[in-house]
Amino acid sequence: MISSAKYRLVHPERSDREASAQSKGARSAGTGALRLRASRSAQGEPVALSILLLFAAACGPRPVTYRQDVEPLLQARCASCHQEGGIGPFALETYEQATQQAGAIKAVTQSRQMPPWGVDGSGACQKWSDSQWLSDTELDVLARWADEGQHPLGTAGMPLVSAPVAFEPTHTLDPAVDYALRTDLTDDYRCFIVDPGLTEDRFVTAYRVDPGDARVVHHVILYAAQTEAQDAAAAQLDAAEAGPGYTCFGGPGFSARPVVGWAPGTGVTRYPEQTGVRLLGGRKLIMQVHYNTRLGVGVDRTRVALELAADVPIEATIVPLADPSLEVPPGQAEVSQVSELSLPLPLRVKVRGVFPHMHKLGRKLKVELLRSEKWQCAVDVPRWDFNWQRFYFYQTPLAAVPGDSLRLSCSYDTSGRTSPVTWGEGTDDEMCLVGLYVTPR
Ligand code: HEC
Repeated sequence: MISSAKYRLVHPERSDREASAQSKGARSAGTGALRLRASRSAQGEPVALSILLLFAAACGPRPVTYRQDVEPLLQARCASCHQEGGIGPFALETYEQATQQAGAIKAVTQSRQMPPWGVDGSGACQKWSDSQWLSDTELDVLARWADEGQHPLGTAGMPLVSAPVAFEPTHTLDPAVDYALRTDLTDDYRCFIVDPGLTEDRFVTAYRVDPGDARVVHHVILYAAQTEAQDAAAAQLDAAEAGPGYTCFGGPGFSARPVVGWAPGTGVTRYPEQTGVRLLGGRKLIMQVHYNTRLGVGVDRTRVALELAADVPIEATIVPLADPSLEVPPGQAEVSQVSELSLPLPLRVKVRGVFPHMHKLGRKLKVELLRSEKWQCAVDVPRWDFNWQRFYFYQTPLAAVPGDSLRLSCSYDTSGRTSPVTWGEGTDDEMCLVGLYVTPR
């Protein structure tokens, strides 16, 4: 099992500057270290390089081989899900498996359906820490592997070394009972009330979701009740339904704050250095689990391990920004709504990450910040997928000051609908929302 370890590939042909920018950006502690650098000798390199280039020109590009080119990529970018018992529908861990799926691998990577990484990572709209975006060179390797047909095995390329995950959980959230998945649904959304047992405020600095059955748990969002009334609302919803927890879709059924967002394959998520999100002493948490029953039904008991600190140097707040006046007409293949919102900021802040959110008709989402009369792209989701929801953190935080505005553009496919689609928490309702991970400095 390598599900909790991830690998960072730093390609020898990339510049050292880029490589070190990448490794600095590595925040998720799930990132096992793999830092490969070409050893450089100041004088030797140009000579070696030009000989190589001559050689390449004479022979054409060398064929893509499994061991040298394909295996390291699949290990680093795919195997966290595509392993026996993982959420991926098949494993991609052996030569035979990769060869069998070569055509499909090319198709889903070219379309950027896989690996699931929702935000544009090409550099056109911000740079992300721990990005899973495949570079054009990597896409090309997988395409050539599919096209060449011979599928040479080759000899071992870059070794993969995983470093132990730096994570020291202090609390485990456990719904305490097994939940029997609904057999009449392919998507079962369930909210469980979990009690961290805090008598005083604490700060989440890192978390890991441990799915009971990794084949079925498709996303987990943890909401924090902010008041006694919200605790009571959750208890009421829970009591109204048989079995553990209650049915919930867009959120927990009332406006609690999201504090944790997780999709499979993410391992440990560590919030940006020195920061953490406050949990109120005495309050409950609501764990929303999206079960996709395509690969199995049965029972599940998902737990969340939290690393909580008594204090953090910089307190982060997750600020949800949305336009609940959403209303889009039915019968449109692509229809968008653009809202301009002023940022509710009392002071200058840093935006360190984003959590985009729409429902199932959502197709694209974009957030831009207006600074000194210039629109700056803050996040671009070119191909929204409800199944893959998570936080994305910037390599370099964005600054925002009081008076800044934000433009939120969401587009939907309403072709299957006969009446207008409006804001709401139901499966048939929509949202256009972004949670900003904001710190005062
Ligand atoms: C975070 C988990 C995850 C990662 C990482 C991941 N996959 Fe997948 N993959 C899935 C899941 C889950 C499915 C099933 C379809 C779905 O739910 O989107 C899937 C489906 C597929 C399919 C079948 C697509 C179809 O439409 O039937 C292929 C092929 C595939 N993945 C290849 C890859 C490759 C290649 C990589 C790495 C470059 C990769 N995946 C990375 C989770 C993952």
